[in-house]
Amino acid sequence: MATTTPNHACDFCGKSKEDVEKLIVGEHSAICNDCIDLCVDILKDENIKKNHGDQQLLNPSSIKDYLDEYVIGQDEAKIVLSVAVSQHFKRINNPSKDIRLEKTNMLLLGPTGCGKTMMVRKVAEFLNVPFAICDATSITEAGYVGDDVESILLQLINAADGDIKKAERGIVYIDEIDKIARKGENLSITRDVSGEGVQQALLKLIEGGLVRVPFSGKRKHPGGDAQEIDTGSILFICGGAFVGLDKIIEKRLHSRSVGFHSEISTKQQKKNYYNLASTRDVIQFGFIPEFVGRFGLLANVNELEIDDLVRVLKEPKNSLIKQYQYIFKLDHIELQFEDAALSMIAKKAKELETNARGLKNIIEKVLLPYQFDAVNLVSRGLKKILISTDTIAGTSPAIMIFNKTVNEKTK
Ligand SMILES: Nc1ncnc2c1ncn2[C@@H]1O[C@H](COP(=O)(O)OP(=O)(O)O)[C@@H](O)[C@H]1O
Ligand SMILES: [Mg+2]
Repeated sequence: MATTTPNHACDFCGKSKEDVEKLIVGEHSAICNDCIDLCVDILKDENIKKNHGDQQLLNPSSIKDYLDEYVIGQDEAKIVLSVAVSQHFKRINNPSKDIRLEKTNMLLLGPTGCGKTMMVRKVAEFLNVPFAICDATSITEAGYVGDDVESILLQLINAADGDIKKAERGIVYIDEIDKIARKGENLSITRDVSGEGVQQALLKLIEGGLVRVPFSGKRKHPGGDAQEIDTGSILFICGGAFVGLDKIIEKRLHSRSVGFHSEISTKQQKKNYYNLASTRDVIQFGFIPEFVGRFGLLANVNELEIDDLVRVLKEPKNSLIKQYQYIFKLDHIELQFEDAALSMIAKKAKELETNARGLKNIIEKVLLPYQFDAVNLVSRGLKKILISTDTIAGTSPAIMIFNKTVNEKTK
C-alpha cells in the first residue's frame, strides 16, 4: 500500500484527506477511517447472522449434546435450558410483524456447586454469544440507574469486544437471585421492602429498554462519554439455591386434600421437592409476581451424589483430573489416581456439602507438595505419581515411580 497523498479523497464517501482522520491509499483507490469502521461493522453483523442463523446450532438437542460433554447429570435443566436458549435466539432472529413474541427468561433453582453457572456459560460459549455473570446481591435498589446495573452491561459489552449490537444479543446470568427475596416469617405482613426494591430494579432491566452505559478505558469516543444499549433482546437467566423452597412446596402439597398430590409428597425425597417448584412457590418464597412473571421457565438442578461427583472428576471434557494430568505432563510427569482414591475425594466433597465445588480444593491440597517438588523430582528421574486412598486420607504420601524402575516413597 502506498502512503497517503494530499490530492486523494476516499473512493467510498468522497471526503478529502483533510476532512478525515486517516486516508489509506492503494494503487488505484483510497478509503478513509470512517468507511473502514463502517465496513468492520457490516462484517461483524454478517458474523452475528452466521452464528445465530445456523439452524443446527439452534437445535435444542445439539445444545444439549454440547452441555453433555461438560456437565454431568442435570438432564432436566439441560433440556429446559436448551429449549429456552434456542427459542430465544429464533425469536430475536425472526421478529414477527403480526405477533408480538415475548421474551422468556429462565430461573434455575438448586443447590450450590451443581452446575448452574457452568451450564449457562457453556451455552453462551456454544452459541458464541457474549456472556456476563453478576451477583444479585451486588445490585442495589437504585440499581437501575446506579453503577451496578451498568457494570453488568459493561461486562457484556466488553465480552462483545465493545460491539453494542453483539452485546444486545448476549446472555446475562444473575446468580444468588434468591438472596433478593423478601424476608420475614409472614411475607404478606412483614414486607422487606428493600428486597422488593431490588426486584423492581432488576425487572426494569429484564423487561428491556435503553440503558446508558459509560465507556470504560482510555479510548476516546467521539459520540460522547456513554453508549446506549437496548436490553430487550438480552437473555436473562437467574439462578439461586432457594434454600427453604422445598418446605414451601411440601406445605403446598400437604395442604391439598388427601389424594394424588399428598401421595406424591410422602413418597418424594426431600431434595426432589425442587422438581415440583411452581411460580406460585417462588412468589411465596418472597418474589413479586411481576418479577416471577418474567421468568416463564423454571428448572432445577439436583444435588450431586457420590457417583456423580466421581464422574465430575473424570468425565467432562475439561475434568479436574484431566486438567491436573495436563499440568503434570508439562513437567513430564504422568499423574494417575486410583479409582478408590477418586471415590474418596467424592465422599470428602459430599461431606463438605459443597457438591462439585469442594472437589478442586481437596485435590489441590493433595497435589500441592508434588507440584512444588515437580522440577526437582523430575531431575531425579521421576516419571509417574500414583495417588491412592492413603494419599487422599493423608496417611501416606503418593507412590512415586522413577525412571530406573525404582519405587520410592517420599515425604
Ligand atoms: N453437574 C456438573 N458437572 C460437571 N462439573 C460440575 C457440575 N456441577 C458443578 N461442577 C463443577 O463445579 C464448579 C462449580 O459449579 P457451578 O456451575 O459454579 O455451580 P452453581 O452455579 O450451581 O453453584 C464448576 O466450575 C464445575 O467445575
Ligand atoms: Mg453459580
